[in-house]
Formats: sequence, structure tokens, C-alpha cells
Amino acid sequence: MPRDAAAVTIRARGPRVSRAPLRVALLGAGTVGREVARALIERGPELLASDGAPLQLAGIAVRDLDRARAAGLPGDLLTDGPAHLVASPDTDVVVELLGGDEPAHTLIAAALSAGKAVVTANKHVIAHHGAELEAIARRTGAALRFEAAVGGGIPVLGPLATDLAANRVTAVRGIVNGTTNYILTAMTEEGRPYASVLADAQAAGYAEADPTGDVEGHDAVNKLVILARLAFGAWLDPTDVATLAADGPGRGSRGITGIDPEDIARARSRNAVIKLLAEATRSDGSHPADIAASVLPREVPADSPFGRTSGVLNRIEIEAVPVGTVAFSGPGAGGPATSSAVLGDLVAVARELGSTWAGLPPATTSAAVGSR
Ligand SMILES: NC(=O)c1ccc[n+]([C@@H]2O[C@H](COP(=O)([O-])OP(=O)(O)OC[C@H]3O[C@@H](n4cnc5c(N)ncnc54)[C@H](OP(=O)(O)O)[C@@H]3O)[C@@H](O)[C@H]2O)c1
Repeated sequence: MPRDAAAVTIRARGPRVSRAPLRVALLGAGTVGREVARALIERGPELLASDGAPLQLAGIAVRDLDRARAAGLPGDLLTDGPAHLVASPDTDVVVELLGGDEPAHTLIAAALSAGKAVVTANKHVIAHHGAELEAIARRTGAALRFEAAVGGGIPVLGPLATDLAANRVTAVRGIVNGTTNYILTAMTEEGRPYASVLADAQAAGYAEADPTGDVEGHDAVNKLVILARLAFGAWLDPTDVATLAADGPGRGSRGITGIDPEDIARARSRNAVIKLLAEATRSDGSHPADIAASVLPREVPADSPFGRTSGVLNRIEIEAVPVGTVAFSGPGAGGPATSSAVLGDLVAVARELGSTWAGLPPATTSAAVGSR
């Protein structure tokens, strides 16, 4: 192409002004949803990208209207009918922050099927229904963005799909669950047994009343499945991720449930600490069968970057060719930090940047492997 023509093309892509606002339907106003609502209401103009549409909060779906009003959310935006809000012709983009499988899965699928962009932090839905949702998004051309589903406020999926797109990723590993890392850190520093630290973590709000999803590793499995999609181009089946420790710390148990003070002491005698590590490596191809994935308690050197990742912090390392090893660390949970990723995705939708997988090719699935 002649140089002059390229220059003209670039100038023609200058800032677009006076675009119609993008009407945002927010599903859920809990820990994360509340922060997103507050930011859209209080800092909407700050979130306006020079080359994107303004964002306008058009509705908020909650279960308990009175409680939401009492929490200061504007009454005229509230509804207890999330399906109606998704289907409304006045909704352009859906932000799903309900959590859990249903109705979140059906609502996301409905929005994408109607050609509406979706932003979600729901790692369970993306890990368990990612292949189906990716297929719908690609068919309708609607964007599906889920940066907040892994690492809370840490940007890691976007960099994998964009800045690192020229690399061949060979491994992803990380401390991706703040609750278990908080418990392991307290067990290590205070020399207390698992059950007692878990009870304190629940009282302090760092662990849920039913901690199974965190302590048995399911939450970390979901995040690893999502990381593997971006890193290797394959949707793993969450049940294919190994979570039962055959040997080493916590042997015979899932997640951190079998870690005892003896495991911690044994690690300490080797200048090591125990961390719940999510790890996926790949051999040659980009099919689920070429990927080995696990979420297991591992000894790591106490003075290593993983060893020094304490409390509720997360750390994710990517090994890739030609870049080498790159690392991402920071706040992996919490309303304000997670809202950062959700709002970043909303701005990306307003700028028409597409889905989290950006220009990566469609992913393979376990089913595709079976038919190879
Ligand atoms: N919290 C974090 O640090 C964090 C970090 C990363 C990702 N995430 C993800 O972000 C999502 C939201 O998490 P969260 O911590 O904000 O959860 P949360 O505090 O439990 O909030 C969920 C909200 O959705 C509402 N809700 C649930 N089901 C509903 C339904 N069927 N209809 C209407 N409203 C419904 C709940 O209402 P009620 O209160 O009335 O039940 C609540 O307001 C989850 O997918 C989570 O995995 C959270």
C-alpha cells in the first residue's frame, strides 16, 4: 500500500464524538456489583474513552429491592426481573455479577444470542460453559469479556490474548485463590492447624460460610480452565484438572483440606512453604489432550516470588517463547479491585474491542479431541 494511503487510513480512525450512549444493564449488586454501580453513577464521565461510546447505567437487577434501595442504589433503576432487563430493547450491554451457575448462564447466553455484549466476573459459568458461550458470541458477533474472572483486579487474560499473542505459551502457573492463600499463610506464620485458621478466616470474611469451592480447589480449577483457554486455545473440562494430591503435602485430599502442621513443618525444614498452585503445561498441540492441568498444594522455596505471595494476593506466571517468563501479581479479589477489571472490560466494549480472546482463533474443546 502506498505510504500516503496508509496515512489517510490512520487519520480517518480519529476520535469519534457524540456517539449514542451504551446502555448498561447490571445484574447483581453485591460485593462487586455495588462497586460497579457506584463507579458508573459517580465517575461515568471519567470512564469515557475518547474513541468510545459513553456508558450509561440503564438498570440494576437484584433479588431484594428494599435492601438495594437501603444500600443507596437509585430506586428508579432497580428491578427484580433480570431476564426482562436482559431482553429489554433499552439494554445494549449486560454486566453479569450474580455469580453461580443459573440463572447467570442462561442470562449470559440470552444476551449474547440477542447480539448484546456481556461483561462478567463469573469464573464458574465461563469455565463450565465457555465453549458454548464462545460459539454463541462468535455466531452473533457480540462481545464476551471476562477479565475479572481470573485474578480479580489483575489484568492477565487481556495481555495473554493481545500483548503476548505472538508467543507460544508453554506453561501457566499461579496462586489464584486468595482464601486458600490466606489460610496457608496464617498456618505457616502462626503455626496453627487448618480448622482453627479456617474458622477465623470465615469470621473475618476471607472465607465463605461454605468454603468448599475455595478450599477443595474448585475455584482455582475454574480460573485455570479460563487461563488455559487464553494461553493454549483450548477449553478444558474442569473435571480433567487434577485436584487430588496423590503424594506430597495434603496427600489423599483435595485442595488444602489435608494440609496439616507436619506438612508445614516439613516444608519449613527445607526453607520452603506450601502454596496451592494451579498449573497447566502443554506438550505439542493445542487440544485439551495435549495439556496437563492440576490444582495441588506444592512446596515452593520460601524466598521465591510464589513463596513471598502472602495473604489474599494472587500471582500468575506465564512461560512463553520467545518472551520467557512474565509475571502478574496483585489483588486477586475484593469489590473495588474486581470492579477495576469489570469497568475496564466495559470501556473495551464501548471502544468496540471485541471479546477477551481478541484476535485468537476459536478454541478447541474436549469433544473436538474425541472426534479427532
Ligand atoms: N467478590 C470478589 O472478590 C470477586 C472477585 C472476582 C470475581 N468475583 C465474581 O463476581 C461475581 C459476583 O460476586 P460477588 O462477590 O459480588 O457476589 P455477591 O456479593 O454474592 O453478590 C451477588 C449479587 O447478585 C444477586 N443475585 C444473585 N442471584 C440473583 C438472582 N437470581 N436475581 C437477582 N439478583 C441475584 C445477589 O442478591 P442477594 O444478595 O439478594 O442474594 C447479590 O446482590 C461472582 O461470579 C464471583 O465469582 C467476585
